[in-house]
Order: sequence, then structure tokens, then C-alpha cells
Amino acid sequence: MEISIAIITCSSTRTLAEDTAGAALAERIWAQPEWMVERHVIVPDERSTIAEAIVEAADTGVDIVLTCGGSGLSRQDVTPEATADVCERNVPGIAEAMRAESLKITGRAMLSRAIAMQRGSTLVINLPGSLKAATECYDAIYEQFEHAVQMAAGGGH
Ligand code: MTE
Repeated sequence: MEISIAIITCSSTRTLAEDTAGAALAERIWAQPEWMVERHVIVPDERSTIAEAIVEAADTGVDIVLTCGGSGLSRQDVTPEATADVCERNVPGIAEAMRAESLKITGRAMLSRAIAMQRGSTLVINLPGSLKAATECYDAIYEQFEHAVQMAAGGGH
């Protein structure tokens, strides 16, 4: 099944070339038949800039937006707030699943404030920013992407 995914890395310090987490996510996405990375961008850790990037990606019709980084406890971590600013409906089970799986690996997973929400039929999911954490969380949820996209498009089970 075709799925288009945007990766938005939220970091004021990282360049695209240094974004190993985003690159690893892209590699995993391209490894699936018919899944595509529609864009991979870096935006600074600013709430309005992140929100604009989510809107831009979602409103071009991508099925899924993966944000990467900015979901921790420091003052500059504002990705969940930016997500909530431009999305309508919570999909709490996705963040619950990421944290449940991640807690089997590290107690630090409880420090994630990541959320998942829908903007229209686009699913927006916050992933952590480090290579290890981003791929662990992605691996915990990606198997449900096709069913999620089908349901968001109005399909049944
Ligand atoms: N999840 C997994 N699977 N593995 C990890 O190492 N690190 C946690 C958490 N989730 C981690 C994880 C830590 S230390 C933080 S601060 C939060 O993700 C948020 O990360 P971020 O600020 O890079 O978004």
C-alpha cells in the first residue's frame, strides 16, 4: 500500500547532513515497498516554525508526519505543543505504545512528552531526536501505519 511520509527534524543545532536520526527513519521508510519519504526537513526548535512545517506537510496531503526531537523536558522542547497547536484529534495509543516498548529498554522513556494527533486525515507523530531513541520508537509503531492510513481515509477494518 502506498504511504507518503514527511520527516520534520526539530533542532536548532543540527544540519540535514548531521541528522542521523532523520536519515535512519528515511531509510526504514524507503525499505518498505510503496512507502515514500515525501520530504525531510530540519526546522529550529521554535513552536510557530514547527507548527508551520507540520501544516505545510499535512496540507500537501502526506499520510503521516513524523517529527523528530524536541519532545523532552528542556525549555526549548516544544514539539508536542506545536503539534497540538495545528492538530485536532488525539491518538493517544501511539505514544502509549512507544513509551511502553521503550520502557522495556530504558527508564528514560518516561521523560518523553511525545504525542500523536490527526490534522485532517494526516497522522502526526512525535518521535525523539536521538538516533537510538527515534529508531526504537519507530520500530514500535510502524507496523500499524498501513491500517491507520486506511482508517483515516475512511476505510473500515
Ligand atoms: N525512547 C527510547 N526508545 N529510547 C530512548 O533512549 N530517550 C528518552 C525518551 N524516549 C529514549 C526514548 C529521553 S532521554 C528523552 S528526553 C525523550 O525521549 C525526548 O527526547 P527528545 O527531546 O530528543 O525528543
